[in-house]
Amino acid sequence: MILSMSQAPHIPLVDRYGRIHTSLRLSVTDRCNIRCYYCMPETGAQFVPKDRILSFEEMHRLACLLVQQGGIRDIRITGGEPLVRQEIPRLIEMLAGIEKLEDLSLTTNGILLADQAQALRQAGLKRLNISLDTLDETIFRKITRRDGLEKTLQGIDAAIECGFDSIKLNTLAIKGVTEPEVANLVRYALDRNVMLRFIEFMPLDSDRAWNHERVLSGDQLLSILRQTFGTLEEISRPDPSQPAEEFQIGKGRIGIIRSITAPFCGACNRIRITADGAVRNCLFAQTETPIRVLMREGASDDELLAAIRGCLAEKSEAHGINEQGFQPPDRPMYAIGG
Ligand code: 5AD
Ligand code: SF4
Repeated sequence: MILSMSQAPHIPLVDRYGRIHTSLRLSVTDRCNIRCYYCMPETGAQFVPKDRILSFEEMHRLACLLVQQGGIRDIRITGGEPLVRQEIPRLIEMLAGIEKLEDLSLTTNGILLADQAQALRQAGLKRLNISLDTLDETIFRKITRRDGLEKTLQGIDAAIECGFDSIKLNTLAIKGVTEPEVANLVRYALDRNVMLRFIEFMPLDSDRAWNHERVLSGDQLLSILRQTFGTLEEISRPDPSQPAEEFQIGKGRIGIIRSITAPFCGACNRIRITADGAVRNCLFAQTETPIRVLMREGASDDELLAAIRGCLAEKSEAHGINEQGFQPPDRPMYAIGG
């Protein structure tokens, strides 16, 4: 009997610590329509020339390979800001058609979402994460160095109307910035019945201004939340690779992602492909495996998969941010994809 590629059993994408990788983060562009200071420089951002950005066909090929032969089960589309790339619904449709893919999601800043939410949903996108750091126009401008809060909020409402399987809001928690916004953001999310998650600020800003003092920690967030909402009940996590700790507030729940104060590297199941076709085994990896040129020079599926497995074999046990001598990666967040 001859098995077609989609029927053949896959060989898991496993690293030397036994972590099995089932989740792919695929960046579709490094460009963005705003300039969040925890990610991009205010001016002079360097973008990859378009001819070095993977085509949808190249992304689809890699995704098929990883799902069917490597056991990837979910794909998250990231940027820069993914919705600034033309025709994203077409890519979603291509990926949604991959047999055995269980989940397809996208992370966006929401600014272009009011226009695109419906088309994304129709193309087969299941879940959305939308960044929302503040509800205050002035703070929004300070963080993003652009206008756009109104558009983001319209985008969130439009997405809610479309009936996605899940919508989550992501708030970057920054000391001295986020504290006065915490309660308002939580109320905003609870009112709309969407989950809000606070994420500890990580050293991925191109300005290299990150330091431990700028992290608003999960503990500090919890203490602000308790002052406002009383006792919070922690909900146990069914899936250990899910980085958010969840807490019940009234009828809703919120999440806290302690990337710095309680790293979850031991349960990491993620592999990343950048928009210019580099495989990264970690946000903080010091090395990466470029596969675009390999692919364009005619590499076979087996050769590509071998290169990806080789990259995973080098994955570090943990990000090491809290250790002496930690160096941030060469690529800032917008050039990796989150
Ligand atoms: N630390 C943590 N999260 C970050 N993001 C961007 N930069 C950082 C950083 N330095 C998050 C944004 C957004 C997603 C694309 O990545 O909050 O939700
Ligand atoms: Fe753009 Fe996202 Fe970076 Fe903000 S965090 S500048 S929205 S890529």
